[in-house]
Amino acid sequence: MNKKSVRDMAWEGKRALVRVDFNVPFERGADRISDDSRIRAALPTIEHLRGQGAAVILVTHLGRPKGQPDPALELGPIAERLCELLAAPVTYVHDAAGADARARAEALNPGGVLLLENIRFYPGEEANSDAFAAALARLADAYVNDAFGTAHRAHASTERVAAHLPACAGLLMEKELAYLGAVLESPERPLAAVFGGAKVSDKVKVLDRLLPQADAVFIGGGMAASFLKAQGHGVGDSLVEEDLIDFCGGAVRRAEESGVALNLPQDVAIAQRIEPGAPTQIVTASAVPDGWMILDIGPRAAAAFAAALRGMKTIVWNGPMGVAEVSPFDQGSRAVAQALAESGATTVIGGGSTAEAVAAFGLADNMSHVSTGGGASLEFLEGAELPGVAALDDR
Ligand code: 3PG
Repeated sequence: MNKKSVRDMAWEGKRALVRVDFNVPFERGADRISDDSRIRAALPTIEHLRGQGAAVILVTHLGRPKGQPDPALELGPIAERLCELLAAPVTYVHDAAGADARARAEALNPGGVLLLENIRFYPGEEANSDAFAAALARLADAYVNDAFGTAHRAHASTERVAAHLPACAGLLMEKELAYLGAVLESPERPLAAVFGGAKVSDKVKVLDRLLPQADAVFIGGGMAASFLKAQGHGVGDSLVEEDLIDFCGGAVRRAEESGVALNLPQDVAIAQRIEPGAPTQIVTASAVPDGWMILDIGPRAAAAFAAALRGMKTIVWNGPMGVAEVSPFDQGSRAVAQALAESGATTVIGGGSTAEAVAAFGLADNMSHVSTGGGASLEFLEGAELPGVAALDDR
């Protein structure tokens, strides 16, 4: 990476403004964080800075409050969790760039940690306002972006602020860019790309980018229906993106022409409703009856995908193979996750629902890298320049 790293800078006695992505999920209707992976993932940067004698001022968003305060999206539970994980006090201030925040920032001792209010309570954030970014910058001596999950957003705390302070990448940001970058630039071969999720439209650009680069591509999830339809199969009541049928057909042809093994499911799990315990059938992919929907790849497909994946040296996976949060439509994703865990390959999991599935199967620790970015990892793999990375100082 040609961007300056948090390890390249001297921090003794300095205040660091650190953008993190603590946009974590909560249990429904409760104050309890259901997955604190994103908080844990930022700890090495926070600890590095504290260890070097810096005071740490953390900035994050939570949810999409659209520039308005929203008590339900305040950061109390996050401050509490962070405090437990760091085993150190964390001051939480209900202000971001005003006098209160400044007073708290100035009062910090080396090693002290301050958490600013949800940055999306302020309209200047998403407007990428220069004045708001400048006010944030006045809190600190330097800026660290460790929020890979939000690096695809050009907001004041992810992009514009970097114009006002010496700006470097945090350790999580570096790790994400190294793993995802290796998939694009120097993968150990054979390289497999596994795609799933509901829609082809979310994956068009990444398919375009990775199809010519991969040795094998595997398609599951709801998006498989459009591919199967492009091959002339009836897909019952499955979600089909009619406007992308030509794209799917073209992708299959391109793969054939360039010798890329494009794997579609040979059988599928179908049901009439997406409900736990709904009556399910396993049918060949060409025999989905009307009134039924494809909700997972079938067991033969799962076994075939798993066997082929075991021979790969680098595997990138983005999008579950079925409706992974509803049993029994999690079986295909489970089989793929297990195959990755046992493959011995470098395994890179795109964030979002794929990361959630891998965590739910208890296999996150068996992967080389589980990205903290959903949209960000997808955009990176599409080859897009992430504004939150581009804005950082070059080495
Ligand atoms: C995410 O959860 O993908 C990031 O935190 C970005 O959130 P956003 O999609 O609301 O910008």
